[in-house]
Amino acid sequence: MIKAVIFDLDGVIVSTDELHYLAWKHIADQEDIEFNKNINHRLRGVSRMDSLEIILENAKKTYSKQEKEALATKKNNYYIELLSSLGAKDILPNVFELLNQLKGKGIKIAIGSSSKNAKAILKQIKLNDIFDVVADGNDILHSKPAPDVFLVAAKKLGINPKHCVVVEDAVVGIEAAKAANMTAVAVFDAKKSNFADYKFNDIRDILTLI
Ligand code: BG6
Ligand code: MG
Repeated sequence: MIKAVIFDLDGVIVSTDELHYLAWKHIADQEDIEFNKNINHRLRGVSRMDSLEIILENAKKTYSKQEKEALATKKNNYYIELLSSLGAKDILPNVFELLNQLKGKGIKIAIGSSSKNAKAILKQIKLNDIFDVVADGNDILHSKPAPDVFLVAAKKLGINPKHCVVVEDAVVGIEAAKAANMTAVAVFDAKKSNFADYKFNDIRDILTLI
């Protein structure tokens, strides 16, 4: 029996892929590190520091912990500048309608995101009041594919993980949902995953599970 739906944020509620890409590209170009959209796909669902490690696989030098932290901060500052262009118009198709329908049916809704900017993004797209709880990169030590962020969301909701559905656009996010013992719904890129319980083209199909 489904009692809650936990939504990933980036790529499920709103598309920030291009903004992450532009911000990392800016850093990679400055450091003369090869970075392209294929590499960017690997950053989906992965924390900021883990993303940086993936980018640095192509670096020509070794970076110290302090240098890595400085690069991640620089990337984030640039990313935050880019986020200012985001608004309610950027909420992905059918999402707003689905959230309201779930609430109407008494289903709890939550965010489970690796991003430390999740709350700022929700405010920017005017969805800061709709979710029952938000679990994000500030609540966890281990990002997806570890189950932590979804378990935190379930705990904040007070709902057993087996009654939670996770909606993800990242393959690592599907792995995280299964590791949390939740039902995993794949949308967009996550449909590549072999572990998804359901693969939907229209996010509103989640209503068929309720
Ligand atoms: C995830 C994104 O939601 O958040 C990743 O899919 C990103 O691409 C991660 O690296 C961390 O985001 P932030 O905003 O904390 O740098
Ligand atoms: Mg995502």
